[in-house]
Amino acid sequence: MTVTIVGSQLGDEGKGALVDLWGGDADVVARYQGGDNAGHTVVEDGTEYKLSLVPSGAVRGKIGVLGNGCVVNPRTLFSEIDTLRERGLDPDVRVARRAHVIMPYHRRLDGIEEEAKADSDMTVGTTGRGIGPTYEDKVGRRGIRVGDLLDPEVLRQRLEYVVPQKRAVIENVYDLEAGEECDVEALFEEFVEVGERLRAENMTVRCGDFLAERHDDGENLMFEGAQGTLIDIDHGSYPYVTSSNPTAGGASTGTGVGPTVVGRGEVVGIVKAYLSRVGEGPMPTELKDDDREEELADVIREKGGEFGTVTGRPRRIGWLDMPMLRHAARVSGFTGIAVNHLDVLAGLDEVKVGHSYQLDGEELLTMPATTERWAECEPTLREFEPWPEVDWADVAAEGYEAIPENGRAYLDYLTEEMGVPVYAVGVGPDRAETVELVNPFENDG
Ligand code: GDP
Ligand code: IMO
Ligand code: MG
Repeated sequence: MTVTIVGSQLGDEGKGALVDLWGGDADVVARYQGGDNAGHTVVEDGTEYKLSLVPSGAVRGKIGVLGNGCVVNPRTLFSEIDTLRERGLDPDVRVARRAHVIMPYHRRLDGIEEEAKADSDMTVGTTGRGIGPTYEDKVGRRGIRVGDLLDPEVLRQRLEYVVPQKRAVIENVYDLEAGEECDVEALFEEFVEVGERLRAENMTVRCGDFLAERHDDGENLMFEGAQGTLIDIDHGSYPYVTSSNPTAGGASTGTGVGPTVVGRGEVVGIVKAYLSRVGEGPMPTELKDDDREEELADVIREKGGEFGTVTGRPRRIGWLDMPMLRHAARVSGFTGIAVNHLDVLAGLDEVKVGHSYQLDGEELLTMPATTERWAECEPTLREFEPWPEVDWADVAAEGYEAIPENGRAYLDYLTEEMGVPVYAVGVGPDRAETVELVNPFENDG
């Protein structure tokens, strides 16, 4: 069967932790979109791994696949694999031949475009990894695919077509100097070598066939979404989004496994018990209106370690946003949710949730389609009884009933409003600090 893991909010919901928890029962863990803009954390017995491109199943020794929907920077992929090997893991990563390659000029252009927007409210605050420009080239039919790196003739032809365009944009549109990133010969040399390593390590696959065959053999597939619903290119807060589909539909288009197969499996939304956002864009429930709210945001940020995994930027903090979660549950068709960071809210004087929005005198239970209208939404807050700080390791060992009563009331509210059961509750970063109610791989009805 398949289990698809999707971020319900703005990324960094703790997807890596759940991929790791349930990845124990998976045979293959496949990423279906995004690239090294992701930063997924797995903590196993106190040892922390931050994974950017290598699927999080690597900590469990599972085969990892980077699907055709991913954008792959071979430099970061190889350096991540090498670092994990030095740390004693043995990541077995396969890359779809249909996946697109992040080239050095994509990274350069990502930076240039953000810089050009710097004085406007159009800045996205990207991770600078070249994600947007690579997807642009994919859709513009001028991208370079992983399979192209295996064929020097094709690679040269592609480079000779595309690189002069990039040079012209850098020099003539932005009036900057192009460098090594636009040198066809240097690129050819580097990326032929990349192709050789991919071949030598037997790393490239026909992703759809590879996964379908395993599925037909009865193996368990896990699809590891990166980013989150509100930064989805179609369903997010455009233009403050990433350039791919983190929502569940992406699991099919981004791997070549049919939507009926994905849909017969489980789709689990990962929910952070509050909100964090790194980068620009609206956030109606953001804690920033006065000193008191800012102090509260500081407390949550410090306690939750809310600093970007990839860029180190402090994350913006807000209360849980229920219209956002209703939207996420519908877009991806969640069959269950996992709620993380319940421990981080413990011991606060107040816990609130944006239950609905007020917009033009009307109550909205879900999100408007334009970001401008979303920014005008005033959340109607609902207050919850706070829950105390407890020994969360004990709670994790004892199970759901050991979660303080008010914390359970909060979880009940989430279940009711989203219309799906809670499969797991995160009460700390470690694999052992998760209260599991349902293992989706054992929920094969
Ligand atoms: P991802 O991108 O969705 O995988 O999430 P990140 O790894 O970027 O950010 C989540 C952070 O919270 C990481 O540092 C995790 O180790 C940590 N984390 C995950 N679940 C929990 C939880 O339930 N409680 C606490 N306190 N931390 C958690
Ligand atoms: P994980 O998988 C949180 C944000 C960036 C920026 C926007 C576009 O760890 O949850 P991009 O570099 O993708 O073009 O940036 O998306 N962003 C993320 N925010 N978690 C992520 O990944 C993110 N990946 C991208 O901060 O606002
Ligand atoms: Mg992250």
